[in-house]
Amino acid sequence: MTQNDQAVSDSGRRSPEPPIHGPEGFEGMRKAGRLTAEALDVLMEATAPGVTTEYLDNLAYTFAMDHGAYPASLLYRGYPKSICTSINHVVCHGIPNDKPLREGDIVNLDICLIVDGWHGDSSRMAYVGEVPRKAQRLCEITHECLMRGIAAIKPGGSTTDIGRAIQAYAEAERCSVVRDFCGHGLGRTYHDAPTILHYAEPSYDVVFKPGQFFTVEPMINLGRPAVKVLSDGWTAVTRDRSLSAQFEHTVGVTETGVEIFTFSPKGLHQPVNPAA
Ligand code: MF3
Ligand code: CO
Repeated sequence: MTQNDQAVSDSGRRSPEPPIHGPEGFEGMRKAGRLTAEALDVLMEATAPGVTTEYLDNLAYTFAMDHGAYPASLLYRGYPKSICTSINHVVCHGIPNDKPLREGDIVNLDICLIVDGWHGDSSRMAYVGEVPRKAQRLCEITHECLMRGIAAIKPGGSTTDIGRAIQAYAEAERCSVVRDFCGHGLGRTYHDAPTILHYAEPSYDVVFKPGQFFTVEPMINLGRPAVKVLSDGWTAVTRDRSLSAQFEHTVGVTETGVEIFTFSPKGLHQPVNPAA
């Protein structure tokens, strides 16, 4: 989600109160999250040199239809596809097309499936064949950013804890955090309060309460954080053309901590280079 979306839907930077969900919501999100993660497992296993992102998009659409789900991005604000496929210096919202993936590419696969009205939103990096060490390092750092951001979610804490944890780790590794896109509340809607910033911004701070659902989806660049959107109105790229990576989970705040709804059933959270 763009920071601008949030400004339009809310009054300024200030979110309305995030919805609080009960046990039925958690049940719904577990189902939606699990199916979303299964879809990503399928997409990750299908990613290889020569495969087109349009092929992966078709696979995702068919998977959704076969499982009684609907891909939330399809026709969302005019977005034409079921998934986003963001390759190398593309930060997010890359549109699947007929260009084959090439050995050494890194690609973010982003899907949100609606199951019984509940939204499961998740993305992972996939390696196309064997990828260069610096690309691998960026993906590992970005996954660690996601997990540190989620680990910072504690009862009594607040959303800036997530941004602070992510920014501290990313910058210690000499990477940068993208500012223009953020995580978001979700549940029966795709994009809701609270906004989740992936950097420290004390002026926007929402206290965690059990029953809040939101995404954590840091975008981390090897170079500068600045982003521009291409003329298709969607594809966001790094201005300096440096590599960018992203991982995303959907989570729920519990009485004691946090529950991750989008864990990979096959344990394919992080891509691995084929053994040399
Ligand atoms: N995970 C991204 C988000 O929540 C996916 C956007 S899909 C698109 O913003 F349709 F908006 F591109
Ligand atoms: Co999202």
